[in-house]
Amino acid sequence: MKPMVTLAALGAAAIALAAVSGADASRYDQYLRPAKAPEPADNIGNPARVELGKTLFFDPRLSGSNWISCATCHNPSRGWSDGLPTGVGHGMQVLKRATPSLINCGFNTTLMWDGRAPNLEEQALGPIAAAAEMNQDLPGLVSKLSAIQGYPKLFNAAYPGEGISEKTIGKAIAAYERTILSGESPFDRWRKGDARAVDAAAKRGFEVFEGKGKCVKCHEGFNFTDNGFHNIGVKEPNGEVDVGRFAQRALRVNYGAFRTPSLRDVALTAPYMHNGAYATLEEVVEHYDRGGDVTEHLSPNMSPLGLTAGEKSDLVAFMKSLTGKQLVVTLPHLPN
Ligand code: HEC
Ligand code: HEC
Repeated sequence: MKPMVTLAALGAAAIALAAVSGADASRYDQYLRPAKAPEPADNIGNPARVELGKTLFFDPRLSGSNWISCATCHNPSRGWSDGLPTGVGHGMQVLKRATPSLINCGFNTTLMWDGRAPNLEEQALGPIAAAAEMNQDLPGLVSKLSAIQGYPKLFNAAYPGEGISEKTIGKAIAAYERTILSGESPFDRWRKGDARAVDAAAKRGFEVFEGKGKCVKCHEGFNFTDNGFHNIGVKEPNGEVDVGRFAQRALRVNYGAFRTPSLRDVALTAPYMHNGAYATLEEVVEHYDRGGDVTEHLSPNMSPLGLTAGEKSDLVAFMKSLTGKQLVVTLPHLPN
């Protein structure tokens, strides 16, 4: 059963924030972040849940080696990613795909590059159990946490009567992840009416983004993603194959299609793409200007753009203007 989402609360928050008037208001509204991410009815966030989730997120004892935490790969100091082309897990195994940033992940309607996880509660258990990531069997984890003196108290405060289980572990981590939100960026201040918040290059870049560059066809809304899957023609290294979304839903359009990533704080999360193919935003813009590299199953929204050198650097300036005020993260004291 899918958890119910409190969309009403989300809508109200968006309206409360949308205190912008004038001709430009509607064009701005779509870029406004709702105050909070939608939550399932059985896991509404509260301070005890978020605190427990944060403690688990930073606790390396969630791994078989007691050495890898979620934050090892989703490091807040690196835009909630790892700065590597693709993740490195248990026993230094190099994973096939890049570690996505977790910024605003609570708004994603599906998770993972191929959308295989339906919600944060279920997703959280995946990397713990995966042999190549944290390599910790889940029943073993429940016993391990139950034996650490401080944990039963934390679980009891967060989920009274529910105990320490796979379910409450997933729920707590999800409650914490929903608090990992992008902060106000120069772009936001500009859209709210502060003409000096960004320079002329970023403003021109936004025009290219919505116009000649066609970026907004997929990177739409406040989180700059349509929550969809597209094949944008990214080459795999050494002739490897990654069918992407196709492995979940075997439709032709899904072949080599990956989830559109958010562009919030994107300047902080290099390298880029599902396989870390590009080290810089400049390289990403060149990719789009070429119309991608692999033409088979390519999205109909991909074609060579014919951007001038100025338009390319403007696009990069625009993307950099999406870097928000960073969340201040206080590290939890792990219980003994
Ligand atoms: C070894 C590195 C590594 C560790 C440890 C790790 N992750 Fe990830 N994470 C990844 C990679 C790589 C992906 C993308 C995999 C894919 O799409 O196939 C990912 C994807 C995700 C996503 C999906 C984000 C999105 O927007 O689609 C979430 C959420 C997430 N991880 C949370 C967690 C949590 C919670 C933990 C700890 C319980 C964790 N991760 C541990 C590397 C890691
Ligand atoms: C057809 C849909 C589509 C269009 C059009 C599009 N994108 Fe993307 N974008 C995606 C998808 C899907 C990915 C991830 C692809 C992958 O990893 O294989 C992506 C990845 C990116 C990334 C890397 C983000 C990260 O975290 O790895 C950036 C930056 C980016 N796009 C910027 C742009 C810009 C700038 C434009 C316009 C010039 C644009 N996109 C046009 C769908 C699109």
